[in-house]
Amino acid sequence: MRWTAQMATGISRVDAQHKELIRQVNELLNAMRAGKGRQVIGDVLAFLGRYAEEHFATEEALMRRHEYPGYGEHKAIHEAFKRDFGALAAEYDRSPEKLSVTIQVQRRVLDWLRNHILNTDQKMGVFLREKGVA
Ligand SMILES: [Fe+2]
Repeated sequence: MRWTAQMATGISRVDAQHKELIRQVNELLNAMRAGKGRQVIGDVLAFLGRYAEEHFATEEALMRRHEYPGYGEHKAIHEAFKRDFGALAAEYDRSPEKLSVTIQVQRRVLDWLRNHILNTDQKMGVFLREKGVA
């Protein structure tokens, strides 16, 4: 997955974090495809989970500060992702070989992230830019 101009929200901190998230998801997929050990993959998963939480907190703080009307809905989407990501990490921890993790990460993390950046975050970006956030 590559960051593209279509993904830009125009909010510099958010865009920088999105690029870093994409980098980490790619790193995770590469580690899985390369058959890296459970410890390495577990560490990358945990790091990505923490980074995603920090990133969501950044977006949520901006939305609250500027009284974004779609805040509740956007936050609920973040919460659902955090639950699903936590479940995926736990499933991996329980049975790393059983779970076809690469496919799960593609579907539940990569596809989600792409769709979220291209849709939900774009709407937020339009609103924040109108409020003068850059
Ligand atoms: Fe978001």
